[in-house]
Amino acid sequence: MQRQQLVDDIKVLRGLVAEKTTMLADSVMEIDVDEYTDPKQFEREKIELFRHFPQFFGPSCVAPDTGDYFASDDTGIQILIVRQQDGGLKAFVNICSHRGAPLNECAHGRAKTSRLFSCPYHGWTYDLEGKLVGVPFGNERFKGINRDTLDLRPLDVQEKHGMIFVMPDPDNTFDIDEVLGGIQKRLSGFCFEDHYYFQMINDVAVAEDYSLAPCLFGAAGDEAFGNVYSSADQRIMERRP
Ligand code: FES
Repeated sequence: MQRQQLVDDIKVLRGLVAEKTTMLADSVMEIDVDEYTDPKQFEREKIELFRHFPQFFGPSCVAPDTGDYFASDDTGIQILIVRQQDGGLKAFVNICSHRGAPLNECAHGRAKTSRLFSCPYHGWTYDLEGKLVGVPFGNERFKGINRDTLDLRPLDVQEKHGMIFVMPDPDNTFDIDEVLGGIQKRLSGFCFEDHYYFQMINDVAVAEDYSLAPCLFGAAGDEAFGNVYSSADQRIMERRP
């Protein structure tokens, strides 16, 4: 079914190339130039599209093992995803409950001893489930605080076909099957759940899945890998052997 759909799509595209044409709408539609240039509309669109809808956050292999984390503020919200001990993922607003600092200073890595995050500013500590578990000088300086209200704020996160999706709005949830709808079969065909990540450092590919590391491929170019995906930050992804 999936293969037949792809074959049909390719036939249509090849037909367009052969005819030196493209797909066209039935009639001309006029669009006000403000639709493209109005900064207020741009801000509204960013909020609607990137805050209130689930966003693709990355492939599952960016955080393969317990304690692995990945952080991003591409949506305008600081988001942290963390691999849990049961193999699932949790996502949080990456804001310390003390004074609002992001918990980690690099975009990805592994939590301390695979169990804890420490805020770089004053050392408040959270476990993988986002629970506040440590407050330096807590008995002397923070006697009155209710720690139960100071955990990291959770976000809805779901994985499907080796991909991670997060709802940036903490007050909203989503149904991943509804979001992916009819493209699920095509996505499953890429087998992203079988992939792992490399990072390019001085033309050397370094495995980021620590169960595979340290695998080094000296001076290997992209063409050295069979099924490779590159991105601007020089991280590449390949299917497991
Ligand atoms: S801002 Fe995080 S511990 Fe103070």
